[in-house]
Amino acid sequence: MTTAPCFPLRDGILHAEDIPLPQLADQYSTPLYVYSRAALRAAWARYASAIQGRDALVCYGVKANSNLAVLHEFAQLGSGFDIVSGGELERVLAAGAPANRIVFSGVGKQAWEMRAALNAGIKCFNVESIPELERLADIAQEMGVRAPVSLRVNPDVDAKTHPYISTGLKDNKFGIDILQAPAVYRQASQYPALEIVGVDCHIGSQITEISPYLDALDKLLRLIDTLAAEGIGLRHLDLGGGLGIRYTDETPPHPADLLNPVFEALHAHGLDTLQVILEPGRSLVGNAGVLLTRVEYLKPTEARNFAIVDAAMNDLMRPALYEAWHDVLEVQPRRGTPQVTYDVVGPICESGDWLARQRLLAIQQGDLLAILSAGAYGFSMASQYNTRPRAAEILVDGQQHWQIRPREEVRDLFATERIPENP
Ligand code: LLP
Repeated sequence: MTTAPCFPLRDGILHAEDIPLPQLADQYSTPLYVYSRAALRAAWARYASAIQGRDALVCYGVKANSNLAVLHEFAQLGSGFDIVSGGELERVLAAGAPANRIVFSGVGKQAWEMRAALNAGIKCFNVESIPELERLADIAQEMGVRAPVSLRVNPDVDAKTHPYISTGLKDNKFGIDILQAPAVYRQASQYPALEIVGVDCHIGSQITEISPYLDALDKLLRLIDTLAAEGIGLRHLDLGGGLGIRYTDETPPHPADLLNPVFEALHAHGLDTLQVILEPGRSLVGNAGVLLTRVEYLKPTEARNFAIVDAAMNDLMRPALYEAWHDVLEVQPRRGTPQVTYDVVGPICESGDWLARQRLLAIQQGDLLAILSAGAYGFSMASQYNTRPRAAEILVDGQQHWQIRPREEVRDLFATERIPENP
């Protein structure tokens, strides 16, 4: 059995740092997201060491886990932020992040979102289409400001990851075809209300090899040369996020394995003055969180043994959506109970509602399970499907902990709904 360093097994009990997980489950009930502050800091330190002494900015991909406490932690550590909505902008500002370290990505930015970001004074808009460029130019003009712009180009490289989270291929909706990019930059340079500041790409997520990034970088460098020849200079190069984490047996690269060749290539290209930006989400938070859940029933059937737990696809939808693998550990491993192969499933009325399949577990009803690597795209993708209140979230630091989001109450889920007077 493997445990992450910040979730150690001590005296036969799984802990979050120095706190036994059963204690948190008793106090806050389950399902429960538990994050380790030490793990967040350790993940950040890997990036910090990789950019040390360089002109580089790590912009945390907020969508991976957008709890204010997590955002605040990264803001304190000096992180920038990659946002994809006006909602994320408000969160990041509420967490105390400086606006001049925010980049705004996404294919569908609405007018109100652009206005809010311009009002806040963000670092850059990563523009993904010509109509978006035109809308941004109009709005900035109207507001009497200049919008800092980077084009997100689609380099057409295969990130070799799950098709739903691969974003840099020609047939994805993302970015501007790299072959069209020079013309779009030329167009951008014509608008007085736009200021061209960079170039951007994001090729996918849970990437475990460096070569797709370097293929994309090669193409971006050629683009930068073309633009320079036309007198269009850039201040930064944003390579997006996407570095993977270990869910099972992956060996994802260290951020330095990615950044060192990037810095070398820029140097070789005479581009030392270009600031490098990354937008990691998963690799900063993924292994800093577990989802605690309790076994409600054990249900042996002819075909399968089901462990029906109190967490479900509404709490963690990655398995249902991507057939993603998350390790599942017994929180208090039992000696006398035989190991049986279980499908760990939730109470939701769909066969897609499973969290883990075919896992050897020694469990009884009432036992606690920890679903690992749940810090990224766990709570942030949670829903209230089946009128299930979303889970509470806890942040642990040594022997201390904080409830950073209380469990929702059922009555809150429909409190704003109205029955028409004359239906
Ligand atoms: N920047 C942009 C423009 C993005 O679209 C994303 C993620 C990131 C940065 C952060 O990528 P990361 O470092 O976390 O890979 N829900 C899926 C992942 C979707 C990723 C979407 N974009 C999952 O649970 O695997």
